[in-house]
Amino acid sequence: MIPGVDNDSIVYLNGDYVRLGDAKISVLDRGFIFGDGIYEVVPCYGGKPFLMDNHLARLQRSLKAIRINAGRSTQDWQDLVLQMLSRSGATGDCTVYLQVTRGVAKREHGFPPSAQATVFCMVSPLKRPSQQVRQQGMTAVSMPDERWLHCEIKSVSLLGNVLAKQYATDAGVDEVLQFRGSHLSEGSSCNIWVVKDGTLSAPVRDHLILEGIRYGFLEQLAAQAGIPFQSRPITQEEVAHADEIMLSSATKEVLPITQLDGKAVGNGIPGPVYQRLRAAYDAAIEAL
Ligand code: PDD
Repeated sequence: MIPGVDNDSIVYLNGDYVRLGDAKISVLDRGFIFGDGIYEVVPCYGGKPFLMDNHLARLQRSLKAIRINAGRSTQDWQDLVLQMLSRSGATGDCTVYLQVTRGVAKREHGFPPSAQATVFCMVSPLKRPSQQVRQQGMTAVSMPDERWLHCEIKSVSLLGNVLAKQYATDAGVDEVLQFRGSHLSEGSSCNIWVVKDGTLSAPVRDHLILEGIRYGFLEQLAAQAGIPFQSRPITQEEVAHADEIMLSSATKEVLPITQLDGKAVGNGIPGPVYQRLRAAYDAAIEAL
């Protein structure tokens, strides 16, 4: 028994649909041994995937970046996601988690010549952000970004992200803002946005952040709402004086950060740019 999960839920593993409690992989799987794999998290509302095409395009990009050939087309991945949603009988809000590793092989660092990719997929309930967190916002602390230099790959090697999240937990706050030298990168598992004088900014899409699916989506929502947007390097100094800070991810959607390093962000309540993006995001979910 694994606490907090439904061991009877149906998961997909290498062609089979099995109970989560019965799903097993080899201890020699390179995902386990080396963290040699990638993943995706697709949010779903009322059982329907949200921005699925973008998530599957990123999945294909991640596979290509680490040279795993899973022998599946985007259509195959889409069929798998829809099949999982249908088999799990999910009619509410949930996430579809997809993971692909380089497969099972003798423990040697170089790519194995003939391993078959391991493909795993599960559906989990999604608890949408509460009214309380939407209205009060989240708290965060700053920390140095000590991860590797290929953060654009959605790799399962998440030790740096795990340690960052624990840094927040140990500090008694919800999230971290990571800084690479003097520049903002991202949170432990989310992108970060800042607002100054009505202009929304986010760090450049490069190898130092994972370009979230919400990055492009919020950019689009901002354009529709007439909110000026800039993708540019953002200094720690600017973050400290931002009018608003927010975060985005598949599971957190878009949420305000109202306290950073023990100080109020702006006037300490969710700001007007957040409110407009939040309303537009809710409307997009509603329209699904
Ligand atoms: N994390 N940056 C990092 C490091 C992330 O792990 C994530 C998402 C994001 C936001 O990406 P998106 O908008 O596509 O969710 C940015 C997922 C939710 C996770 O690991 O559970």
